[in-house]
Parts: sequence; C-alpha cells; structure tokens
Amino acid sequence: MNVNARLTTLLHALRCPVCAGEALAFEGEFEGVRRTGTLSCRQCSARYPLQDGIADFLPTGHPALTLAQLTGQWKLTATVYERLWRTRALSLLSGEAFPPAREIGLLLDALEPTFAEDGLWLDAACSTGYYGRPIAKRLLEQGRTASLVIGIDLSLAMLEEARAYANREGVAEAMLWLRADMSALPLAEATVRGIACGGSLNEYRDALAVLKEGRRVLQPEVGRYFVMNQLDPPLIVRAALSSMGGLTFFTRPRLDALFEAAGLHKVTAADYGKLAITVLKA
Ligand SMILES: C[S@@+](CC[C@H](N)C(=O)[O-])C[C@H]1O[C@@H](n2cnc3c(N)ncnc32)[C@H](O)[C@@H]1O
Ligand SMILES: [Zn+2]
Repeated sequence: MNVNARLTTLLHALRCPVCAGEALAFEGEFEGVRRTGTLSCRQCSARYPLQDGIADFLPTGHPALTLAQLTGQWKLTATVYERLWRTRALSLLSGEAFPPAREIGLLLDALEPTFAEDGLWLDAACSTGYYGRPIAKRLLEQGRTASLVIGIDLSLAMLEEARAYANREGVAEAMLWLRADMSALPLAEATVRGIACGGSLNEYRDALAVLKEGRRVLQPEVGRYFVMNQLDPPLIVRAALSSMGGLTFFTRPRLDALFEAAGLHKVTAADYGKLAITVLKA
C-alpha cells in the first residue's frame, strides 16, 4: 500500500519527454524494491521501460557526450568514483577538514523546510546517489510513505551503482532512478520539493538550461535547490580541463549571474576555498 502511494506520487509528476503530455500510465510490478514494467504516454503512446527500479527515458540513446560525461558511462568509473574520490573531494577543494558528515549535514539542513510534507526530491546528475541516499533515509525515518527520491543520470552504469548502494543501505524503497537528461527533464512544472546537485554543474554541457529546468520543476516558495560545485581553478588548470574534458568552471560572480539568469533566488551561499555551496529557491 505504501508502495502504491510512492507510485502515485511519481505518476503525478512525470511528463512525457516526447510530447510533454502529463498523463503517463504504468503497467507492471511496483512492490517493495521490485519495480519492473513499462511507463507509457497516453497522449503519444511513447513507452519507457522500467527495469529493477531504473526507468529509461533515453531508450533511443543519449545526447552527444563530453569526455567527462563519457567517462561517467564506464563501469570502472562508477565503481571507484565514490570510494576513491567523492568522500575526499570536499576536503581537497576547500583546503579544510570537510568529512562526508559535514557535507550531508549542510544538505539536510538546507532541505529541512521541504520535509514537512510528502512529495518528490531529485538527486540531479546523481552518479552513485551520494545526496539522494541520505535524503531517502531521512524520509524513511520520518515515515513519509508517499515520498520518493529520484536519481537522474545519463549513465546507466552510475545508476546501477547508485541502486546497489541504496539496496545495501536499506533506502532503495524510497528511491527510483531515471536515465534522463537534466536539461530536458521528464517532469511537470512545480512537482519537486527539493533538488540536490553535487558537483555536476561543472560537467553539464549547458548549465543554464539545466538550472532553468530545475526552476521549472521546483515548487515555488517551499522548494529548495542545493548546489555544491567547484569554483574557478587557476587559469592553466582550467584551460587544460575544459579543453580536454568539457568541464566548465565558474567564479562566484559568474555563478550568481547564472542562477539569476535561470530565475532562481539565493537563500544562502557559502564558499570554502574552491568549494561553493549555494541554496536556492524558485
Ligand atoms: C560530477 S558527477 C556527479 C556527482 C554526484 N552528483 C555526487 O554528488 O557525487 C557528474 C555526473 O553527471 C552526469 N551528467 C552529466 N551531464 C548530465 C546531464 N545533462 N544529465 C544527466 N546527467 C548528467 C554524469 O553522467 C556523471 O555521472
Ligand atoms: Zn507523449
């Protein structure tokens, strides 16, 4: 019964990426963490497979990838990413002790107002679901039986890794994964209570388009958008990284201008060395 409530929340929010129709139907099994079937659009009859908790909204392939995005498609990257890099990244970027518990504490504090009711949360370009999992844990602890955290990424390997982590941590029931493009979200307007984006702003091909999409799906007033990203590295490093890998870096003024251009309003902003944490609302 709880599970159906989560499915209902999902179906209320989904929007067909082909025709923008907002009536998607589900056929199949959606029980506990056993979730396999087909989502189909009643308007244009496009179909999106759901396999063991991962729905594919890019069934005919993904958009052209930058090198950084391409490496994320590899199984090896997905396997070592969190253990070798993610848990140390913030200490390296900030130049101070920034253990995972401090980062996740900031994330959950920022999203606090969004937990007052059931709904949908988004782990944007989630990789292994580093932000989505603690949000799901929080929702489960609060007994939010109609809530769901959606992890979105272009990389199936990353989504599979995210699902494995979530299963091990016992939070998969409150999560679902979508293979989709953050710059063309399969979600309707004002359907998301909270968005968490760790690191990916530097990796998107079109960061402004992604932020505008976030603004479109975020609920006005109560909705919160938590963004953690890397600020401009020294010029020489930046030139090498962006020419090789398709990464983009922002100074704080450029970052603020980007948020404003997307129609997002700053709630709080704090920079620690090269690490920027910004909380926004629609
Ligand atoms: C830096 S990692 C994300 C890290 C993760 N959010 C975290 O906090 O650990 C970047 C991820 O963004 C994904 N990505 C890049 N561009 C994307 C897009 N347009 N839509 C969805 N995912 C994207 C890549 O596949 C990769 O897994
Ligand atoms: Zn459609």
